[in-house]
Amino acid sequence: MNEIEIQKQYIEKVKAFNQGKLPKYTILTMGCQLNENDSEKLSGMLEQMGYERTEKQEEADLALFNTCCVRENAEDKLFGKLGELKRLKEQKGMIIAIGGCMMQEKHITNKIKQSYPFVDLLFGTHTLHKFPEDLYKTLDEKKKLEDIIDIEGKIYEGLPIKRNSKIQASVTIMNGCNNFCSYCIVPYVRGRERSRQPRDIIQEVKELAEKGYQEITLLGQNVNSYLRVEKEKGLPIEEYEGVDSFASLLKAINKIDGIQRIRFVSPHPKDFTDDVIEAIRSCEKVCKLIHLPLQSGNSKVLEEMNRKYTKEQYLSLVEKMKKAIPNLTLSTDIIVGFPGETDQEFEDTLDVVKKVKFEQVYMFLYSRRVGTPGDKKENQIPEEQKHKRFDQLKDLVESQTEENNQKYIGTIQKVLVEGESKNNKAFLTGRTDSNKVVIFEGDKKRIGQVIDLKIISQHIWYLKGEEI
Ligand code: SAH
Ligand code: SF4
Ligand code: F3S
Repeated sequence: MNEIEIQKQYIEKVKAFNQGKLPKYTILTMGCQLNENDSEKLSGMLEQMGYERTEKQEEADLALFNTCCVRENAEDKLFGKLGELKRLKEQKGMIIAIGGCMMQEKHITNKIKQSYPFVDLLFGTHTLHKFPEDLYKTLDEKKKLEDIIDIEGKIYEGLPIKRNSKIQASVTIMNGCNNFCSYCIVPYVRGRERSRQPRDIIQEVKELAEKGYQEITLLGQNVNSYLRVEKEKGLPIEEYEGVDSFASLLKAINKIDGIQRIRFVSPHPKDFTDDVIEAIRSCEKVCKLIHLPLQSGNSKVLEEMNRKYTKEQYLSLVEKMKKAIPNLTLSTDIIVGFPGETDQEFEDTLDVVKKVKFEQVYMFLYSRRVGTPGDKKENQIPEEQKHKRFDQLKDLVESQTEENNQKYIGTIQKVLVEGESKNNKAFLTGRTDSNKVVIFEGDKKRIGQVIDLKIISQHIWYLKGEEI
């Protein structure tokens, strides 16, 4: 019996255990879209085990956390929540389970066991698929359980999934990372790069299309090296619809009827080969907003970060892409205050931002991560200096955003309508190809459709449109 079939038996066992009850669960997901997608799998398993989701902590029989450790603030958030739960646990005896990236860090699990001994179950990124078994043992044996292993990683197919949206779906195409950027914890907690087989991905997307999904986001820590490791190592790649690379995967998914939009995160600039650029250009469903993480605009800092490109190489890649792909827009990630970064080096980051004019910039203060080379560097930047640079970057980005938004006014944009606006129910909300939020007054039957909207005003974080 394969591992997933074993887990299916545990799903039935937990279901039998809960017979006659209607147990409820909460799930708090931190971190990136990969973690969100993992949480959809955890929810899928839980709902098959008879659990029902609630947003109210006090109602929950199971409180589940799917954690991230890419920056320190995620840790603060988890410990804060655990502190809040202590009293509720004493009153109600709910099960508390914690999984995800943070659980792959020994100093964190030690801290939980010491300071929050009431937590029932700890599981890691490589044991997520065993959640039914771990939960069953926790329920049945009423003992604390820790199921964390440190391996290169495997791929498990066939887990149930409960998706958050009926319109947009994420599809993980690869797991892990081999890049070891010197600031980053991800390769240590997610294991080595491994790609799913083309058939599994394409069949998943076809099923989503049949269910009426409009937009697919392909996920991986380094999506444009899809299948690269497998090819280098001579591992078997099952031939399916001619897919043997990220570019050919985009082309195959582009052919699937029903899907209207394809997005992907995150590619690495060093792996942005010409065939990928060509595929983005020629596939009409692939959105022309590309996320291209910069991290720093200074070549020396980039080298220290182990990013494997220089400022000039990044800028010439952008030029090449802009030339090849009409209407291309770009978004990026930037870290300020990497150890040793000088004011002058930081100017290079501002310079690249000025030159590229990103559609969106995700900005982060450098955060020391235990076990990474960045953490061992002695020339750490004082917090107030990091904040000063962060504010400088933020001011630049906001002024550019405002200027960029002006360009949308009066244009007609294709918008995928996602639902009612959270802030104002009188409005519907959707996104342009370039991922800009647009709100407008319209009929609810528009939800799930791609429609033309005329942009009438801009409000820094969103645009306002009207139907034409
Ligand atoms: N694999 C993806 C995403 C990695 S995590 C990529 O390479 O783009 C998402 C972002 O978090 C990174 O792009 C980086 O900007 C930021 N990040 C990672 N480690 C960090 C750290 N130690 N401190 C601050 N930001 C960090
Ligand atoms: Fe982290 Fe770099 Fe891998 Fe992205 S590419 S996950 S930033 S090590
Ligand atoms: Fe965080 Fe893990 Fe994603 S560390 S950013 S949840 S891969």
